[in-house]
Amino acid sequence: MRRKLVVGNWKMNGSRTSNAVLLSEIVAGLAASGAASAVCVPAPYLAQCQAQLAGSALGWGAQDVSAHASGAYTGEISAAMLQDFGCSYVVIGHSERRAYHGESDAQVAAKTVAALAAGITPIVCIGETLAQREAGQTNAVVAQQLGAVLAAIGGDDVAKLVLAYEPVWAIGTGKTATPQMAQDVHQELRGQLVAKNAVAAAGVQILYGGSMKPENAKELMAMPDIDGGLIGGAALKAADFLAIIHAAD
Ligand code: G3H
Repeated sequence: MRRKLVVGNWKMNGSRTSNAVLLSEIVAGLAASGAASAVCVPAPYLAQCQAQLAGSALGWGAQDVSAHASGAYTGEISAAMLQDFGCSYVVIGHSERRAYHGESDAQVAAKTVAALAAGITPIVCIGETLAQREAGQTNAVVAQQLGAVLAAIGGDDVAKLVLAYEPVWAIGTGKTATPQMAQDVHQELRGQLVAKNAVAAAGVQILYGGSMKPENAKELMAMPDIDGGLIGGAALKAADFLAIIHAAD
């Protein structure tokens, strides 16, 4: 049985003052949750998470990582640096980075390898655009995105992955994939993991992301291959984020 995982992706939001309030409200409301939970925050606030979340059940992490180990890569942050802060997670290949920063499948794979080497759990994001879905290409698109990652890692590393299926057309739009639509893709992704490492595939958490909110979280996470959520907008309000975490209980 896979433990549910709910991760808040804050994207480029927050301030020291607002973060302190949000984090303390989340931690206060977490009691007795059966699901694992974490927040992935802008890099300048990693130290704030390290200080404020020490000893709490709320995990934390970053939203991107460099594929390079060190050197002349101005502005980049290495996996070793994230590890230095004690990050548990890093979001990799979010569709906003693929779209606005031109991240390729090969770069996403290289970043995943870097995170794994540093002992950080990569949350690898995968998903199709509306045009791709309407053209019937969803399964082919997600298979290519995941395939690039699986080709770059060893079979033993499959157990260390978290995947997030995020249909691009559902992100921040209020449009959510139906539970069955999401389940169909999650099942495809798990099948692809099985081909790489059947035993490990059964334990990999595959999160759904895209306008998940308190009203729809329970029915999405009731599907057999939906193991939690990657939450954007609703992760910025403690009450909403907590309601989603508790919907996963
Ligand atoms: O990483 C989170 C996703 O992009 C979902 O964002 O919940 O605001 O649609 P959203």
